[in-house]
Amino acid sequence: MSEHNEAPSLKDILVGVADAFAGASTVACIIAGHRTGLYKAMAHGDPMTSDELAAAAATNERLTREWLDQQAAAQLVIYDEPSDSYTLPSSAAAVLADPDSPFWLAGGLVGVQALYLDLDRGIEVMKGDGALGWGEHHPYLFEGTQELFRPAYDHQLVQHWLPQRANGIADLETGITVADIGCGTGYSTITLARAFPESTFIGFDLHQPSIDEARHNASEAGLTNVSFEVAAADATSGPFDLICFFDCLHDMGDPVGIASHSINQLSDGGSIIVVEPFAMQTRTENHYLRAAPRYAMSLFCCVPCSLSQPGARGMGCQAGEVGMRAVFAEAGLNDFTRIAESPNHIVYEAQPS
Ligand SMILES: C[S@@+](CC[C@H](N)C(=O)[O-])C[C@H]1O[C@@H](n2cnc3c(N)ncnc32)[C@H](O)[C@@H]1O
Repeated sequence: MSEHNEAPSLKDILVGVADAFAGASTVACIIAGHRTGLYKAMAHGDPMTSDELAAAAATNERLTREWLDQQAAAQLVIYDEPSDSYTLPSSAAAVLADPDSPFWLAGGLVGVQALYLDLDRGIEVMKGDGALGWGEHHPYLFEGTQELFRPAYDHQLVQHWLPQRANGIADLETGITVADIGCGTGYSTITLARAFPESTFIGFDLHQPSIDEARHNASEAGLTNVSFEVAAADATSGPFDLICFFDCLHDMGDPVGIASHSINQLSDGGSIIVVEPFAMQTRTENHYLRAAPRYAMSLFCCVPCSLSQPGARGMGCQAGEVGMRAVFAEAGLNDFTRIAESPNHIVYEAQPS
């Protein structure tokens, strides 16, 4: 694409839209590969014919061959003409076949399926008041959200993000009370509860089905230091030593009121951690291809969720550091520090003096 502020050529536009067409249709094939077990069956990295793969994954051979050719065209699998076989390279397996990999992305793409399933509704609200509650989406959004963020919670949260807090993790190891607000299906809460058995964790979310799933997951994990409650973020009551907002404060109607309320629920010396989707510092800088899916999610999910709630600030998930710093400044807290970042996230700590 052209440099910022230059009008793109017709060729640039055609290539960009054709790439988007290729991407959107490849996402459907990736979800199909994930759901049918085709990637898992190829994860060993040895070449396979379509017959062998169809037998291993229990799929229709003719459609398996078409899927393999689509994946080869998308440069995700390698085709060898003499043996008529296909290989999933280990790099692709890390992203598409292994849910425990730090690079896992196939599960997160299920959220894009939700976006398409809800598209008629999304268009309706674009012509209306812009409001659509989180719980009004197809359940694939909740699954996709959990899977999209799970690798970061598995591989970054305890290992890299929390040690950057002003007080590190010593308090979590000794035993404190932590609120995970807007916890969704509770993966972050459960990850923390497992890592810090001396601390107590309470996950709060407005969405009853997500809380039901979180409770189920916690009981499956056999954890006794974690519980979940259906509650709006401004109805929680502490005191809490640490309050966390993982990928959710921007979704809320009144993030300033919620930040203010949370500050009042902190014990002496307590702090707030806010994890937000990655965004660049300025709007112009943020107009690049990697931000396009984030803006799309923001358009159809984050902003409508916020507009459906009292306050209706409609921050969006790409308001970046400037936007979130402003929220805490308006809530009367200027001690707001960017403490960590990873390719998909920025982590902030807010601490009343
Ligand atoms: C993008 S999801 C993130 C879920 C979870 N924190 C995660 O990282 O997977 C946003 C969550 O915020 C919740 N939420 C939105 N507004 C809320 C509010 N005012 N109070 C409590 N939860 C809210 C939604 O129900 C949803 O589960």
